[in-house]
Amino acid sequence: MPMSSLSSSSFNQSVIDEFRANGGKVGGPFEGGDLLLLTTVGARSGREHTVPLGYVRAEGLLLIVASAAGAAEDPQWYRNLLARPVVGVELGTEVFDAVAVPAEGSRRDRLFAAVVRAAPGYGDYQRHTERLLPVVVLEQPGDTTPREVASLADKLLEVHDWLRGQLRHVRAETEAHFADHGTGAEAPPPLGLQIRQHCLAFCQGLTIHHTGEDQGVFPALAHSHPHLRDTLDRLAEEHRTVARLKDGLVALLAELGSAEPERFRAELARLSAELEAHLDHEERELLPALADIPFPPVR
Ligand SMILES: [Fe+2]
Ligand SMILES: [Fe+2]
Repeated sequence: MPMSSLSSSSFNQSVIDEFRANGGKVGGPFEGGDLLLLTTVGARSGREHTVPLGYVRAEGLLLIVASAAGAAEDPQWYRNLLARPVVGVELGTEVFDAVAVPAEGSRRDRLFAAVVRAAPGYGDYQRHTERLLPVVVLEQPGDTTPREVASLADKLLEVHDWLRGQLRHVRAETEAHFADHGTGAEAPPPLGLQIRQHCLAFCQGLTIHHTGEDQGVFPALAHSHPHLRDTLDRLAEEHRTVARLKDGLVALLAELGSAEPERFRAELARLSAELEAHLDHEERELLPALADIPFPPVR
């Protein structure tokens, strides 16, 4: 039985509590069902929101369906993940972050058919609503070579590697979008949700990293290494430049249907150039000082 929308929030909470207390196993009506906990962040409220959801594995992918039991409106968690694609997933005893990417077009239809084969109740939900039930792929972080982190310098490089990797990925997807649609006189079609979700996830990671530097690492370094103060001021100024470009990109993505792909590609290239230069600059200037600071912090 699909469990896409459990209406009562106290009932939801009791399922969540039982799930967490029993390593992901839940009894009662969900006995034997494939259940995960999804945590999204409110698009406007900024508050975390956890729901138990049925999931299906197909084509090597982890899938959830925004069925809301066939209701006319998308569930709140789906609206949340469109705005903030990085979501928390609890599956059995595993806890991980994932990037939520709704499938589109024929891929969506193929995956939905696979879902219905595994859990036929979703077919009933689809018959109840005009809405095309969204099928969401929960993408787990790819196999990156883990870095041994012993100092704040290692940590900085780890995050920078992640940011560089994400950006490379979004640029490659964007180039593929253009390549797929030729270079003829015809304008390329609007960007898809996949590029949008990946780009938003990258932008969120970037904001979190720079906020952490502006509010934590930089003030601490300015205190312990006063000779770095001018450098830190310049790096903080670069953060503001990068943030302006990032905000421009996010604004373009907000109007996905009408966003001009060419403009997006150009803005993405500008952001890349500024960010790459910033990451290199920061590593050159700060790594020697950060290498002496243990991470995770010791008391
Ligand atoms: Fe930075
Ligand atoms: Fe950084």
